[in-house]
Amino acid sequence: MAESPAKRAAKLRELVNDYRYNYHVLDKSIMSEAAADSLKHELSQIEAEHPDLITPDSPTQRVAGEPLPQFKKIQHSGRMLSLNDVFNNEELEAWQSRVEKLSGQKDIEYFADLKMDGLACALVYQDGVLAQAVTRGDGFTGEDVTMNVRTIESVPLRLRSAKGYENFLNGRTEIRGEIIMYKKAFEKLNQEQEKKGLPKFANPRNTAAGTIRQLDPKLVAARPLQFHAYDLLRQDGAETPTNDFIYKAIRELGLITNKDAMVAKSIKEVEAFAKKWEDKRKGLPFNTDGLVVKVNDRRLQARLGVVGKAPRGAVAFKYPAEQATTKVKDIFVSIGRTGSATPVAMLEPVVVAGSTVQMATLHNEGEVHRKDIRIGDTVIVQKAGDVIPEVVAPLVKLRGGAEKKFVMPKRCPVCNTKLVKAKAEEAVWRCPNNACPSRAWKQIQHYTSKDAVDIEGMGEKNVIALLQAGLIKNAADIYSIKKEDLLKLERFADISSEKLVRAIQDKKRPPLARFIYGLGIRHVGVQTAIDLAAHFKTLNKLSNSTIDELAEVEGIGEVVAEAIVEWFEEPRNKKLLEKFERLGVQPESAKEIRGPLTGKSLVVTGSLESMSREEAAERIRALGGTFQSSVGKETDYLVVGANVGENKLKKARDLGTKRIGEADFLKLIDSIR
Ligand code: IVH
Repeated sequence: MAESPAKRAAKLRELVNDYRYNYHVLDKSIMSEAAADSLKHELSQIEAEHPDLITPDSPTQRVAGEPLPQFKKIQHSGRMLSLNDVFNNEELEAWQSRVEKLSGQKDIEYFADLKMDGLACALVYQDGVLAQAVTRGDGFTGEDVTMNVRTIESVPLRLRSAKGYENFLNGRTEIRGEIIMYKKAFEKLNQEQEKKGLPKFANPRNTAAGTIRQLDPKLVAARPLQFHAYDLLRQDGAETPTNDFIYKAIRELGLITNKDAMVAKSIKEVEAFAKKWEDKRKGLPFNTDGLVVKVNDRRLQARLGVVGKAPRGAVAFKYPAEQATTKVKDIFVSIGRTGSATPVAMLEPVVVAGSTVQMATLHNEGEVHRKDIRIGDTVIVQKAGDVIPEVVAPLVKLRGGAEKKFVMPKRCPVCNTKLVKAKAEEAVWRCPNNACPSRAWKQIQHYTSKDAVDIEGMGEKNVIALLQAGLIKNAADIYSIKKEDLLKLERFADISSEKLVRAIQDKKRPPLARFIYGLGIRHVGVQTAIDLAAHFKTLNKLSNSTIDELAEVEGIGEVVAEAIVEWFEEPRNKKLLEKFERLGVQPESAKEIRGPLTGKSLVVTGSLESMSREEAAERIRALGGTFQSSVGKETDYLVVGANVGENKLKKARDLGTKRIGEADFLKLIDSIR
């Protein structure tokens, strides 16, 4: 006999929920998105025929409902607090001392997590079913955004029943966390905005905040939001003894918590955690500006109480601000290594993320006008990681009327050649004069930079001094520099001259890939240079290659191939290469590294927990393997990290590429050591 619709619906619901839990919380895919969609479709058909079978926690009930006239105000069960900030280890230790003093305890255990940059939200589950979602608001009262939060896939409509955590399915369980938009989703959204000719969003946080406060849930459903939880509240505090336990419980109940959160036995361990994430956080799927540190014991946390808006038992450890405001003194045009003319803002010096910033790129003429940045404006500047500082936006309200609009010059400010655009639709103006002096020092600096031939002592100031003294005109000339020449210059003493000459001479046989990258050919980045070196083996072969031959190299398209051929055809560059040769510079042909991965091509998708993509690439290459950027016919393994879109996996599936997880990848590369 056929199963009853009620039974079938219940089973479908369970399976779809399992898929959701595995996908969002465990980063595991138990079936494809298409298969899950198909199950959902069947479920909605049953429910359409038997409306009495619809339950509020059914996955079909995520569909966006009708727009609201306004949000209802809801009072929080307990105030949603903020945190006091500390900015360094000293301040963190001062907080620790206060906690120790107030509690009369030493050796306190702490709990540290990454601080997500989103907006706080409280989810109320009644008997395990999502009943209400409320924004933080003023901490006492928030807005009822249940309709919108129901469209967030990573929020379960019903808590999972898990052994040992059954009590949380009875009565009221409040789960608090942060609504965020992942960086990738944000970028994609902005690309779509751009394609549609619509204005771009400023940052993931504002976009998430703006989205959740949309009155039309359909709009919310179209924007990929996430919910990462950090707190669980029950009437009886004894059910939640530690923050560590709370995180475990939340995951078991089917919500996301940050996996990197940790228990620290001492404040030193918290400091090590903070240090570890200071750079590594750039690779996280979401933005973070610091950590949240709490005492692990919840009873102690409660006992420590609240001052003002913040609990005494927790603190936010903030990394140096990556944004600051300052004034634009002037806008000038800088000519880059390849002749690109970039407007640059000269700023009143300001400290951003721990270093002083005096200049910030404005990218191109269009961007200056789009953002309406004027000379004299007070602006927000931003420094993200190693990226050069940029101007985010002007503070229009602070204008006094004397601000001046920027006019893109018609001629190169250095050599006075008329600026051109290769194609009308290109955003960038260029100085077409290959002999433009402004290019020389950037090219030399590029050649000697860390990722290229890596010559120490060739920083900006030294290169300029050498150029001004007429000792060098291009990158090859550096090999003819003698100690006696340097001693004549003010900047150099006996030891420093000797050191620099030795550093240069030591790099007469640079690895071919580094040398190719150092030439500064348009579109040829580190990876392309490595691919070219591996394919052509010698500089001679590369320099004589045709567009067709170049196109055979994996990952090289027409534009790049053309740029390479053009570069080697240019008489100035031919002369440069001759000079390198004359001065005895012989790039070392790419050595075949023989290793367990020789002949194997790997693609890494998503984020790995144990290393960055760059590290993974390096490890793969060191073992003789090829690191590819996208899956192709010749790919042997697709290494699947966290937060991978279904599309990427689909291509691998279509091509039959073997997929491995991080653990297997580690086994693969560890077998070598
Ligand atoms: S714990 C008393 N953990 O930061 C509030 N908060 O400045 C303790 N936040 O309102 C909350 N990531 O919205 C906690 N891993 C995290 C967090 C986090 C972001 C937000 C949260 C809170 C604000 C406090």
